[in-house]
Amino acid sequence: MVKAIVLFNSKGGNTKKVAMKIAEGLETESRSNKELPDLTEYDLVVVGSWVIMGRISFAGARYLRKLKRKGIDGKKVALFFTSGGPDEDHPFSKDKENPKKIKEVMFEKMENIIAKNKQVTIIPERFYCKGAIRMMGEVKDNIGHPTEEELEQARLFGEQLKTQLEV
Ligand SMILES: Cc1cc2nc3c(=O)[nH]c(=O)nc-3n(C[C@H](O)[C@H](O)[C@H](O)COP(=O)(O)O)c2cc1C
Repeated sequence: MVKAIVLFNSKGGNTKKVAMKIAEGLETESRSNKELPDLTEYDLVVVGSWVIMGRISFAGARYLRKLKRKGIDGKKVALFFTSGGPDEDHPFSKDKENPKKIKEVMFEKMENIIAKNKQVTIIPERFYCKGAIRMMGEVKDNIGHPTEEELEQARLFGEQLKTQLEV
């Protein structure tokens, strides 16, 4: 049996909701960046974060860096995130004719931080969806996201990871 855990950081709760659903699909637990466990006993670590000003948040980047100390070397890693618009053109893309999407930039950044000097295998399967934008506690945009449908997709993502890794 594959031993898996889902990790996340979340300010407004969207990424946490998605993390919990992925964990449900995997039949395992989710933990926030504030309660990172020792990872040595796991085969698969699912790692999630969210986007601020087109980037990973400061707290998000810090927790991804911390994963080395927690024993992520040698593990399989799957990535996910929530954002205002994962499929939208990245506002600071250098190539203005052919701009990168927010999802590409975000996954690249997460991969770079996690895989730096570490023996991790980032698996190609990954998940992203929209999250309601809360500023000073008030919902400003993307009301209702992640939707029930997106949360079901997150659960299925977890289930697929489980099936795939158990084969
Ligand atoms: C201050 C702030 C800045 C944000 N900047 C971006 C952004 O540049 N691009 C984007 O796609 N989403 C942006 N978002 C949307 C968040 O990434 C999205 O709402 C995410 O789901 C929040 O996750 P959380 O609820 O787990 O904290 C921003 C949200 C906030 C609150």
